[in-house]
Amino acid sequence: MLPGAPHLARTADGRLRLEGHVLADLGRRFGTPLFVYSRAAMRDAVAAYQRALQGRPHLVCYAMKANSSLAVLQTFAQAGCGFDIVSGGELERVLAAGGDAAKVVFSGVGKTRAEMRQALQAGVRCFNVESTSELDTLSQEAVALGRVAPVSLRVNPDVDAGTHPYISTGLKGNKFGIAHDEALAAYRHAASLPGLRVVGIDCHIGSQITQVAPYLDALDRVLDLVEAVEAAGIAIHHVDVGGGLGITYTDETPPRADEMVAALLARLDARGHGHREVLLEPGRSLVGNAGVLLMEVLVLKPGSAKSFCIVDAAMNDVMRPAMYEAWMGIEPCLLRAETARTWDVVGPICESGDWLGRDRTLAVQPGDLLAMLSAGAYGMAMSSNYNTRPRAAEVLVDGDQVHLIREREQVADLFAHERLVRD
Ligand code: LLP
Repeated sequence: MLPGAPHLARTADGRLRLEGHVLADLGRRFGTPLFVYSRAAMRDAVAAYQRALQGRPHLVCYAMKANSSLAVLQTFAQAGCGFDIVSGGELERVLAAGGDAAKVVFSGVGKTRAEMRQALQAGVRCFNVESTSELDTLSQEAVALGRVAPVSLRVNPDVDAGTHPYISTGLKGNKFGIAHDEALAAYRHAASLPGLRVVGIDCHIGSQITQVAPYLDALDRVLDLVEAVEAAGIAIHHVDVGGGLGITYTDETPPRADEMVAALLARLDARGHGHREVLLEPGRSLVGNAGVLLMEVLVLKPGSAKSFCIVDAAMNDVMRPAMYEAWMGIEPCLLRAETARTWDVVGPICESGDWLGRDRTLAVQPGDLLAMLSAGAYGMAMSSNYNTRPRAAEVLVDGDQVHLIREREQVADLFAHERLVRD
């Protein structure tokens, strides 16, 4: 069984296929390392959210930090999504991909004045504001441009999402959001500023969340505030519950998107808030299991303490194992008859932290292709050029179509903006 990925299958001939396309063939044709994504998997993932929200005012804002490649954004824009952005650069990507600024929410704890102006001019739907200082700056910039900035305050509900500390964001000790007990005063302040119009409230408690309960706790805390803020005479239109729904990398059993949404809607109804527009900001759950990273085995180094399977992908292509000790599935693209042994699958980078999977049982030979599973989210988007390694190419499969959506970077691209000094 291949975890989580409905469009990925191993056929009886031992070949791993995505939407029917033989991954080994794609790896040979386009070279490795290579990200391959299934467009159907992305469409199915977003449809699950949209089905559950049908009949309600809603907007699914794809958190594009998970994978911001233009063709991926285009896929979600065509599916009717908005976007959750965290930089001016992401806004430019949305527009380049044909997305609608009026469906963009702008999150982030440190927006520059230039980014605020850019977003005001583009006409984003909402700024998710994280501090009173940001309220002041945003109001000044809006007034200077003769505009009014729609704002939502990101409140920190102080809820434990039960996930990795680096990707937990809704606890008091995190840098994110406005503390729950300061939020009413912040709303009063927002309502008093000339350049702002309060439109909503938002929160985001973390990523790779595998239970519904933290969402419901956070929603309860947010609704307590909505009631207090509206009692103070400030209307709140939408409630944005953030993203964070987990996926199956190995044996996790997160709720399905439609289950999670149904639970949220039931809680909104139960508390008399069923009329509100609901916004969500899913990232990983829309793209994570839609993608794989293909890599070639370069060298086998069997040893007495550890045996290493050295591949041509590395921590610069997928940082998740090095950064969070994340477990990512690794499968041969073609099953071999030989007996398997235990390998640490590692990249060629000069760091012991450059590993992709530890203690994996695989039958491999140099030249074989492997696939890292669930690599569609926070793979390419977090990649780097460490060790002057050009970034991978990306392919999108869509039914019988195969599209190269990003060419492999060339080394010359990497130092195109550098200058030698004149001695
Ligand atoms: N909204 C906000 C405000 C966020 O900060 C994030 C993610 C999301 C939405 C989307 O969360 P998702 O649905 O993807 O869980 N690089 C890490 C994940 C960092 C997530 C940061 N914020 C990883 O590879 O696990």
